[in-house]
Amino acid sequence: MNITLRQITVFQAVARHLNYTLAADDLHVTQPAVSMQVKQLEDTLELPLFEQVGKRIYLTEAGRELYRSSRRITESLDEAIDVIQSLKGVRGGLLKLSVATTANHFATRLLAGFVERYPGVSFSLDVTNRETLLSQLANNERDLVIMGQPPATADLLAVPFLRNPLVMIAPPSHPLVGQRQIPLERLVDACFVLREPGSGTRSAAERFFAEHDLVLSPGMEMSSNEAIKQAVEASLGLAVVSLHTLEVELQVHRLAILDVQGFPIERHWFLAQRHGKRLSPVAAAFREFVLGEAKTYVSLPVQEMYRETQATTG
Ligand code: PGA
Repeated sequence: MNITLRQITVFQAVARHLNYTLAADDLHVTQPAVSMQVKQLEDTLELPLFEQVGKRIYLTEAGRELYRSSRRITESLDEAIDVIQSLKGVRGGLLKLSVATTANHFATRLLAGFVERYPGVSFSLDVTNRETLLSQLANNERDLVIMGQPPATADLLAVPFLRNPLVMIAPPSHPLVGQRQIPLERLVDACFVLREPGSGTRSAAERFFAEHDLVLSPGMEMSSNEAIKQAVEASLGLAVVSLHTLEVELQVHRLAILDVQGFPIERHWFLAQRHGKRLSPVAAAFREFVLGEAKTYVSLPVQEMYRETQATTG
């Protein structure tokens, strides 16, 4: 039987997404190319792997069996590649890292410091939201991930290494700027600009308000911190963002932090890996570097703000 690894990779992407278009996006190919690979695989196996019910597709029994077995094959192959990489040592190794969109503000600085220490290391960096990070870890697609607190249910080893206070921002001309200990009730009618569902910042903010029996007034939704900051600056609403995203805006007074009761929402950045994953030498060196030295790579303005948010809100 002539099954190729390419067919398996394409099949797994469709099985993961249960959607040909998303699988094609994931693999950076066209949707007809994906359909053709799946069709060839089905022809070889002489059984359908997916069935369509209404607008959705599902794995058939044969599809489920192939997915289970093929995952074992690709995981062994990944392990073999990791071992081969490790024979090269730290120098010349490849680090597969993903970071939360919000963490990108300091992660690139960290990576630059790491590469300076270990020249010759190469890395692939994916910047994405929390939901995607969790699925990448579950699928063993990355060595390490920098993210907000992972759910206890995920089968992960996750270590906190840096504070990530979430603060409420407003345009400097907003009437609440400068007021002390603003009660949450004052914000009931405020309009908020939120991140997209799947964002860790968004779910932490929603959890905070729900715990205080407040529902955020639905305002706009944007999938980037940069867009949110510009919207707040343009007085389209208030927002809750990580302090790490505000380095420039606070220095040039384009945005102000509101002193709201209960804020900042104290979160941490975690370095996470799949439980039981054998790290390559380069990934192990990066882990040690992050856990030992990340604090020194936080920019001075953010370090200053760490102190201020603690001082003003106790
Ligand atoms: P995100 O940040 O909002 O960019 O997903 C990650 C997190 O804070 O958990």
